[in-house]
Amino acid sequence: SYPSRVKIIDVGPRDGLQNEKQPVPAAVKVELVQRLQAAGLKEIEVTSFVSPKWVPQMADNAQVLHGIERQAGVRYSVLTPNMKGLEAALAAPRAEWPDEIVVFGAASEAFSQKNINCSIAESIERFAPVVEAARAQGIAVRGAMSCTVGCPYEGEIAPEKVGYLAGLMKGIGVQRVDVADTIGVGTPLKVQRAIEATQAHFDIAEISGHFHDTYGQALSNTLAALGMGVWNFQSSVAGLGGCPYAKGATGNVATEDVVYLLQGMGIDTGIDLDALIDAGVYISQALGREPHSRVSKAIRIK
Ligand code: HMG
Ligand code: MG
Repeated sequence: SYPSRVKIIDVGPRDGLQNEKQPVPAAVKVELVQRLQAAGLKEIEVTSFVSPKWVPQMADNAQVLHGIERQAGVRYSVLTPNMKGLEAALAAPRAEWPDEIVVFGAASEAFSQKNINCSIAESIERFAPVVEAARAQGIAVRGAMSCTVGCPYEGEIAPEKVGYLAGLMKGIGVQRVDVADTIGVGTPLKVQRAIEATQAHFDIAEISGHFHDTYGQALSNTLAALGMGVWNFQSSVAGLGGCPYAKGATGNVATEDVVYLLQGMGIDTGIDLDALIDAGVYISQALGREPHSRVSKAIRIK
């Protein structure tokens, strides 16, 4: 049986835009966040407090985070890989703090090195004080787990490696985790094995599915995860995205497509599909292209 409701975290403003070569003005990012919340998104990954040398597109993190007109009941999250990132995210009055911070590790050693310049074990050492400091301030903590089915450098990733990382995340006080298929190579049974391995350490309500659509498998993988009772998913409006350290990775599955799937199954998301499509058209026009969403296209030409 499937869950009766699903919560979607739109990661478009962060995962979606981080890899854009052309500069996207902070005001456009802020407007995107506001259109997403107006469409009914209750969780939005807004930006990341990472090195601007590594990810120049996120250099305007503070401007974006503090530019949003916050809506009650919406959870705003940001990525913070280290104490420097956390301190920058909290360098503002409390009302402008993120509700949740995200530490991000990988099930693959090679990807950990390329993405955050350290081993898995070192990453956990760096995250531990970040998690502790955030939780001491009442900020929620999520852990993103990259490459849980495949890695651009190591190939297929065994579920044991996912379980190992999930256990380390749990051990430092991370409250919930994302099972990410960073390069979109996963297929339903492989994704289910990665989720099962995570379940050794986290409750199903604490696990979210984060599927990139590189190989066109993301909706199938979503359905497979739903069948296990997963009811938290990450997606990007207009299918924005790609990862700077995962060559060839396309965007996350489009939020429009996930919402259409869920609505068709009678699963409540609280999202207004038409308003969401408009938000996707808005950001795509700003980027000078069409939304990467089949549902958006189909509904607009109807
Ligand atoms: P490092 O070079 O090992 O760090 O980078 P460091 O502590 O040695 O610092 C080096 C320089 O970076 C110093 O500056 C620091 O001040 C600065 P310098 O003295 O050379 O001028 N620095 C920072 N600046 C701003 N904010 C910070 C920060 N930390 C250090 N927080 C680091 C380590 C993690 C910082 C770096 O590797 C980095 O920023 N990586 C970017 C990783 C990233 O954003 N990747 C994309 C997101 S992950 C993803 O997309 C996957 C996900 O969606 C799930 C999925 O799909 O798989 C989550
Ligand atoms: Mg991602």
